[in-house]
Amino acid sequence: MNEQALMATAKALLANSKGILAMDESTNTCNKRFAALGIPQTVDFRRAYRELIITTPDIENYISGLILYDETIRQQKKDGTPFIKAILDAGMLPGIKVDLGAKDLAGHPDEKVTEGLDGLRDRLKEYVLMGARFAKWRGVITTNDILPSMGCIAANAQALARYAALCQEVGLVPIVEMELLMEGEHTIHQCADVTEESLRAVFKELYLQNVMLEGIILKPNMVLAGISCTTQPTVRVVANATLKCLLRNVPAAVPGIAFLSGGQAAQLATERLNAMNSQHKLKLPWDLSFSFARAIQQPALEIWKGEEANIPAAQQALLHRAKSNTAARKGEYTIEMEK
Ligand code: G3H
Repeated sequence: MNEQALMATAKALLANSKGILAMDESTNTCNKRFAALGIPQTVDFRRAYRELIITTPDIENYISGLILYDETIRQQKKDGTPFIKAILDAGMLPGIKVDLGAKDLAGHPDEKVTEGLDGLRDRLKEYVLMGARFAKWRGVITTNDILPSMGCIAANAQALARYAALCQEVGLVPIVEMELLMEGEHTIHQCADVTEESLRAVFKELYLQNVMLEGIILKPNMVLAGISCTTQPTVRVVANATLKCLLRNVPAAVPGIAFLSGGQAAQLATERLNAMNSQHKLKLPWDLSFSFARAIQQPALEIWKGEEANIPAAQQALLHRAKSNTAARKGEYTIEMEK
């Protein structure tokens, strides 16, 4: 393991208040989002959409790295330039989602475990040869009055740690993502408890698998109430609850935390990130960043709708969200920026 190189990559992903743009939706997920907007669900439209994102003018001023999907990392721009080359030429880093999705966990009704460890070492080596510099694996946890089970948390935490160790072995910085899903009626307190329990399990497993904490990026959910919970907390309450949970459970050796958006409205995700950084930045041991998919992409996707004529306006919307989140990293975002 080249520790210095891993630390340098993690640092580059967090530098200059930029963040990570996740554009690694599986074919199924991408097709679902296209279908909702009447966009044809074909490989050509998926390629065109990913080209729109990668070629957004000035995006490199706000985005340090892009997470790709297996289909996307093998694709090219219309002019034949490989996406990986276009990303590197713009000064951004290419990353790759390497898990094979969350599948039913045997013996645990309504719970999932993320699969993809078999053959992972060889897949990672191929991605490194293609130019990838970091990777992503996402474990998902559901909560309600009886879930999650300890078995589900333990299985996902162990898989994440084994993935992270394999990544570091080949020189890829692992993004370690454990997501407590927003769907449900759970309160912010339940979310805090479950997030805390999951993070504790993840760091225990990372330790057992000899993962170098200085060479990872943690990608957690913010601490929120479920979308169907009748009491929705303010931005400030979310910021405080999230930081309390992270400060208790994330070692200072971790260089950065890059949140997922999880289905929050784009602007709200930015406001919450901003509140954390504006109120607490100076007393945090790690960088607090973003690794959003929907909270950056959704407004642009809704404008694009698969029409070539809409590309400039869609790119403007994408750039606006990226720029707003960079401001939120500095604690300098204001609602006026939305005008
Ligand atoms: O794995 C999830 C993505 O990387 C982040 O997606 O911001 O839409 O939750 P999201």
